Amino acid sequence: MCGIIGYCGQKDAVPVVLEALKCLEYRGYDSAGVASLCDGQLLISKDAGKVEEVIEKHKLATLPGHVAIGHTRWATHGGVTQSNAHPHPDCTGRLAVVHNGIIENNQELRRELTEAGHRFASETDTEVIAHLLEDELKSGRSLEQAMLSIAPKLEGSYAFVAVSLDDPDKIVGTRKSNPLIVGLKDRDYYISSDALAFAQYTDEVMALEDNEVVVLTEGAIEFLDPEGNKVAKQSRTLDQSWAVSDKGAYQHFMLKEIMEQAQVLERIVDQDRQQFTQIALDILRARQVIITACGTSRYAALVGRYLFSRVGKKFCDVVMASEFGYFADSVDKNTVVIAVSQSGETADVVEGVKAARAVGAEVISIVNRPNSILTDLSHQVIYLNCGSEIAVAATKSFLSQLAIFYLLAFAMVNSFDEAAASLAGLGGQISKTLDWNKSELIKLSDRLKDKDDAYYIARGINFAIASEAALKLKEISYVHAEGMPAGELKHGTLALIEQGTPVVVICPDDYTFAETLSNAIETKSRGAYIVGVSDRESDVYDSWIRIPEVDELLYPMVAVVPLQLLAYYIAVNRGCDPDKPRNLAKSVTVK
Ligand code: F6R
Repeated sequence: MCGIIGYCGQKDAVPVVLEALKCLEYRGYDSAGVASLCDGQLLISKDAGKVEEVIEKHKLATLPGHVAIGHTRWATHGGVTQSNAHPHPDCTGRLAVVHNGIIENNQELRRELTEAGHRFASETDTEVIAHLLEDELKSGRSLEQAMLSIAPKLEGSYAFVAVSLDDPDKIVGTRKSNPLIVGLKDRDYYISSDALAFAQYTDEVMALEDNEVVVLTEGAIEFLDPEGNKVAKQSRTLDQSWAVSDKGAYQHFMLKEIMEQAQVLERIVDQDRQQFTQIALDILRARQVIITACGTSRYAALVGRYLFSRVGKKFCDVVMASEFGYFADSVDKNTVVIAVSQSGETADVVEGVKAARAVGAEVISIVNRPNSILTDLSHQVIYLNCGSEIAVAATKSFLSQLAIFYLLAFAMVNSFDEAAASLAGLGGQISKTLDWNKSELIKLSDRLKDKDDAYYIARGINFAIASEAALKLKEISYVHAEGMPAGELKHGTLALIEQGTPVVVICPDDYTFAETLSNAIETKSRGAYIVGVSDRESDVYDSWIRIPEVDELLYPMVAVVPLQLLAYYIAVNRGCDPDKPRNLAKSVTVK
């Protein structure tokens, strides 16, 4: 979480930084700030609030300077306040730091620094970096030497950049297990958590490895290894198609991303058949297969598990990435670990993968963002190819993950081409589903918007869709929602059903229909308001979300789309911003 940007070059630096912060807001949006160097002064301006609000309130666009850094925050240490917003100065106000990640030993460092006379102005872990750098600069070191010298004292994972009046006209940055990438064009240099932030200016990028330090000045760039030796680097070209982040005519990114899913599906099948065949063989041969992921990606993994079992006759387990470490004892070199992550930088997934690699397991990752931390750590990478996903709530990446699992399952039985053909035809069914239901969903959202709770039930391969749809609703509309296997209801949750409680029943006309419907009837007898998601009509439904008839293994893909849209309309109806739900961020880079 948190987005970092730095720029030095020929342009006015602050406008570049502010534009970048808007692109980085998906990483956190509870506070923002900038620091710029101008005529021997360090100007810092920051506050709690979304980027646009802070820019407006503090007239940030008027700040001068040719060297500037900026930050958009997702709070970890310390509340959402102006003093906890980044950049953080040292005691002298002559240097400023922006940071993403967590300094795990910050309490200890803070104690030592306070005893040595430093004054802290915030509750953040980041501020220790500013004071540690201050001491190094006082002893005559350059900013890059200072950074190299303090890095070994910092425990945890981080990316940070700093500017200083004592070593002006430069930006220095380093990283450990958190992303930081450099962009260059002519005499202009950019540094950011995500190349998306500067993609409008350049497609030439250079990667910074863990523990390296980069020094940017106007017209020059230098990389240093942890011992301070220069490192030669090649630049590479960024895939600009990735960088599109325009809402177009849509009111929100989430709506745009829901609506483009039919086209996304057509692109997904553009995969390397050979690679799928090889990975399918590795999965079949492995002693055990563990899929690890968080949140929505984990629900995609749960569908994948059904597909592997039903099509490939291969049992595998899905382990929540935050719990993966507790199962590490049974992971070995005969284990295949499949890591699923849209961002490729979710801290728990990254940590699980590192642990798996350490014991010799084969790691296959399914990711969306190119050149992420996870892609670097994996033996094999399958890309979702669904383009950048900006809304915090995952939608098109989820559908893409389902499609990848579908292809993988069929690759296990040598039927990759048949599966790709089925997926290519599914885009039309998804468009149809959206067309059929749009106005009904708007009406339904009006009916459901004031409910405090909602329950989603399904069976078999569709069960994870119940969980995913519930997650969508709760994260963007703040309505309590639970998704569960329909058969589990009467083991406790049924006690919560009252007159009018919404129960969304995902019951396609497949092997799960009859039993799921009878569970729906049990809730209806207790007063539930039933929303049926099915291609088969029934009197049991109070509201019907009609989906087309498709092959039973494809129902999860058509069922989830209208439920994403329902959650979206409910959120908008309740006055929530679906693109930036409270307390959340798109990239979860802390454990
Ligand atoms: C929910 C959502 C999150 C993510 C989770 C994992 O809509 O987006 O639950 O799925 O944070 O993120 P990735 O897939 O980037 O590892």
